[in-house]
Amino acid sequence: MSKDTQWKYSETEINQEDYLKNESLMTVSNGYLSLRGSYEEGNMSYGHQGTYLNGLYEFHDLHYGEKFTAYPDKSQVMVNLPDPKTVKFKVNGESLSLETSKISSYHRELDLRSGILKREFVWETYTGAKAKICSTRFASSVEKHLICIKYEIQFYQGEGDYSIESTIDTNRHNISKEDDPRIGVEFNHNPIVILSRGLEDELMFLNGETYDSKQKFNVYLLNEYNVDGIKVDTETGILQDQFGDDTSIILYKYIWLDKNETRDSKRAFIALKNKGYRHALDKHSQWWKQQWEHMDVVIKGDKLMQKAIRLNLYHLTQNVGKDGLTNISAKGMTGEGYEGHYFWDTEIYMLPFFVYTNPDIAKSLLMYRYNTLEQARSRARQMGHKQGVLYPWRTINGEECSSFFPAGTAQYHINADIAYGIKLYYEATNDWKFIQDYGMEILLELANLWLDMGQFDHQGRFCIHEVTGPDEYSCLVNNNTYTNIMVKNEIEFLLSLIEKCQEESSGLSLKSMELIQTFEVERAKRVIEHMYLAYDDTLKIYAQDDGFLSKPVWDFAETPKEKYPLLMHYHPLTLYRHQVCKQADVVLAELLQPTMFTPEQKKRDFDYYEKITTHDSSLSNCIYGIMAAELGDLEKSYEYYMKTAKTDIEDVHQNAKDGIHAANMAGSWLGIVYGFAGLRIKDGELTFNSKIPKNWEEYSFHLRFKNQVYEIKVNQNDVKIIEKNC
Ligand code: BGC
Repeated sequence: MSKDTQWKYSETEINQEDYLKNESLMTVSNGYLSLRGSYEEGNMSYGHQGTYLNGLYEFHDLHYGEKFTAYPDKSQVMVNLPDPKTVKFKVNGESLSLETSKISSYHRELDLRSGILKREFVWETYTGAKAKICSTRFASSVEKHLICIKYEIQFYQGEGDYSIESTIDTNRHNISKEDDPRIGVEFNHNPIVILSRGLEDELMFLNGETYDSKQKFNVYLLNEYNVDGIKVDTETGILQDQFGDDTSIILYKYIWLDKNETRDSKRAFIALKNKGYRHALDKHSQWWKQQWEHMDVVIKGDKLMQKAIRLNLYHLTQNVGKDGLTNISAKGMTGEGYEGHYFWDTEIYMLPFFVYTNPDIAKSLLMYRYNTLEQARSRARQMGHKQGVLYPWRTINGEECSSFFPAGTAQYHINADIAYGIKLYYEATNDWKFIQDYGMEILLELANLWLDMGQFDHQGRFCIHEVTGPDEYSCLVNNNTYTNIMVKNEIEFLLSLIEKCQEESSGLSLKSMELIQTFEVERAKRVIEHMYLAYDDTLKIYAQDDGFLSKPVWDFAETPKEKYPLLMHYHPLTLYRHQVCKQADVVLAELLQPTMFTPEQKKRDFDYYEKITTHDSSLSNCIYGIMAAELGDLEKSYEYYMKTAKTDIEDVHQNAKDGIHAANMAGSWLGIVYGFAGLRIKDGELTFNSKIPKNWEEYSFHLRFKNQVYEIKVNQNDVKIIEKNC
């Protein structure tokens, strides 16, 4: 296999310790479907085989000791589907198992440049036969329903019988671990009902639906062998034959998965299969090549960071839903952590990468929010708001899934985060049509919620009570600074759009026109003018919320290392009663609204909050790293950067087994673009304040802004911003 290591994520032994992590990291996906990087040959006792369709979920009943109004009854859980990649290979009656068979010369690598996973090894059977086995797999980035596997066997010692069964294994289940809130919960029923399955003219099919949510799906498998005159049993699909010391067999597995949205799926699948493996592979690789042309980040002088950022960008690109009906979950489709839910992670962490490198994908992520506006509308009513929409804290289908409201539903900032995402997209693309057709409606509804929920207090300050900000170690607070800052910005943006609509012939959608007519423009203006931000005049810092600075500071000196992450060891109330932060909050607000604060203010806030932030959330280090760069501490910024970029490749949190940390992966892109290169949008224009870590020779990346592509190259002596031909 190739030695081009900075494009490869690889392993050279079967290692129990790393197996689950590598199952996650070696996932192949295209945003519609995915296969975890498990072996074709079936179970590893310590592995977790996973086959997923983005957006396909089963309901899971939520149980509460005490249940109050508007607590969600059901959560949605991404379902682990029947596994179509399965290959059962036997030689002289002995089954190949990577756990127990005699294996040598093992090598597996994920080629990030082309999105192809390849594995090879030699198997020596107990009867003395030897075979080299090589499997190659990819989830087509061009044909979203298609996965292809090439399974090659080359005997070079011994003789006898062999058999190959290539099938769809239904013995697959969702993972569960009840004592960790970050991992899924156990179903009390089988989430999958198989409606029919069989073999029809060589096509293996399985039609199923989820038990409670009644979502249909289809799995098809076509096996093709390169061997002449082969004896495949027409009932079972099992191939049985004899081998000698130079027998070679190639099995091509064509797999199709769909959510039952296409009537003619079988025909479409057969047509694709008839074009052949090579054709599918070439188209797939070509797509990836094109993606890398505009999304790659090149780092010279730091091999680990180079590989880490590519692995991270690969995962973002392959896991993101691209159809406007699905999104990207906190773990992508690489594992079942957080049950496959989508969070604010999308707009605040991942969206910028797509906005500046692939705006079509960014648009489809925002379209997902538009397409779930109705659910957000009805959620707002359930929560007692007379107008506006409230987006769910965590969800798949647009309905709220969070059962712990203090760190869930109370995070109303999700609304402002979505507004921020729309602004980011619009500023970078000038896509006025998107605003007319969709964006304006979302923004008006988001603002209506704040106008309903916030209140002017007796001093005339606009206050937002009883919410939780990004930092989940302080919940149900008044005037979370992050939230208030983001809301102020959101409403300012909306008012500027309303003004633009009045100046130009607006072309707004009917719904937006209707909403504009009743929108309280004057009240909105007063809100932004009088938005209350909690500020401490003695410390001269922004308080995270009204009560935050009056609490005792957490006793960090007395907290041993094993007690982190704190959420796993202390009751939430203990955390809420202290000044201790899980993740960036005020500091994040100051990054997102760069012109609102002086450098001195940012420095004071950074210094204060850094001391009390545990970074127990993987969404935190990148933000501190970026702000450290802005404040001129490059060394500190680099340290934070390394922690961010390495999170999954080195499994820093020891939970990559449950899936990647997608927001953090995006954070490693932000760390370079916002951090070292210092990109900020000011007055609607790109600005840079570039720096470079002292051990790097050069870094470069591309950005698309207002239909112009730029290449930014920074080395120790020079910064170049080059306009490229689009
Ligand atoms: C973080 C949230 C985040 C979620 C999913 C939690 O640990 O505190 O901010 O949205 O993980 O990534």
